[in-house]
Amino acid sequence: MQKAWFYEEHGPKEVLQQGDVPIPYPQADQLLVQVHAAALNPIDFKLRQNPLGPVDLPVVPGCDMAGVVVAKGDGALRFDVGDEVYGNIQNFKAEGKLKQLGSLAEFVVLEEELVAVKPKNVSFEEAASLPVAVQTAVEGFKTAGFKEGQSVFIVGGAGGVGTSALQLAKQFYKASVVTATTSTGKVDFLKGLGADKVVDYTKTRYMEVEEKYDFVFDTIGDSRKSYVVAKEDAPVIDITWPPSNPRAQHTSLTVSGKILEELRPYLESGRLKAVIDPTSPFPFSNVIEAFKHLETGRARGKVVISPVVSSSHDLAFCT
Ligand SMILES: NC(=O)c1ccc[n+]([C@@H]2O[C@H](COP(=O)([O-])OP(=O)(O)OC[C@H]3O[C@@H](n4cnc5c(N)ncnc54)[C@H](OP(=O)(O)O)[C@@H]3O)[C@@H](O)[C@H]2O)c1
Repeated sequence: MQKAWFYEEHGPKEVLQQGDVPIPYPQADQLLVQVHAAALNPIDFKLRQNPLGPVDLPVVPGCDMAGVVVAKGDGALRFDVGDEVYGNIQNFKAEGKLKQLGSLAEFVVLEEELVAVKPKNVSFEEAASLPVAVQTAVEGFKTAGFKEGQSVFIVGGAGGVGTSALQLAKQFYKASVVTATTSTGKVDFLKGLGADKVVDYTKTRYMEVEEKYDFVFDTIGDSRKSYVVAKEDAPVIDITWPPSNPRAQHTSLTVSGKILEELRPYLESGRLKAVIDPTSPFPFSNVIEAFKHLETGRARGKVVISPVVSSSHDLAFCT
């Protein structure tokens, strides 16, 4: 058995309990990974609050993790025991339902296509913070058909997805102008991440923004209003569901280790950085506090759980 956080009924963060669950056995193309760090995403609490699709309870929440491969199935050929990997382990689209064993556990099993090698210069905490946010940001730019030299207006630049979108816009997609919105206290933070312009939404309304953009990437579900900064016929992507504007297109992330592999040179060179909320990391025992902070909607970058306490385990049954 292993330690994990789980819920047996849907509801507020108080339904979360810490307890023992079985250590799973890696099948065919699966890896058994010892989790060193995990990160939280709004989807983790949205799924806990309401079943958004088919689900078998109890559920161990968590999509993002970084850790070390400790065992593998016969068909898993890309990774070896001892490899440091990271990824988003919840591939809802492909599996049609939520994995019962998410990343808030000492060990997880996952299909090896879901993870990538953790760059050596990136800590477990930093790696765990990246997958969902980065995969969502990439999906937005891809769907928008974004081209080098175009301009982008990011609504909600300081959150998990916003901080990834902002950095990718500058470094990977080579945007000409990157503007992002946030509240007063985070304006300098976004400039530090590379924003050319920052709109303080407590002082300026979208209507007052003079420039029009080639792409509006709305990460907070404000497309009902934010679309006004888009050029005529320019794509407006809203990653929240349902989008508050019929003019906006909704995108949902593609879960794959390939995207993380593609970004490896950017992480190794420091052009793409993990952005971890100042309150993090939360130790494994404080997962409820970590959710409390994320659920305020004010996190700056990512909320991370580390260390994921690991007692000694006999994994001989896996070999
Ligand atoms: N479709 C998909 O595939 C997908 C994937 C991932 C996430 N999502 C969804 O996308 C949303 C964002 O996710 P996330 O992980 O980025 O959330 P997050 O990290 O919790 O976002 C927190 C940030 O949102 C900012 N914010 C809140 N209200 C704002 C406003 N009115 N204007 C500008 N910024 C504002 C806050 O900055 P201030 O304190 O300055 O307001 C804070 O820094 C969630 O609803 C999530 O469920 C969708």
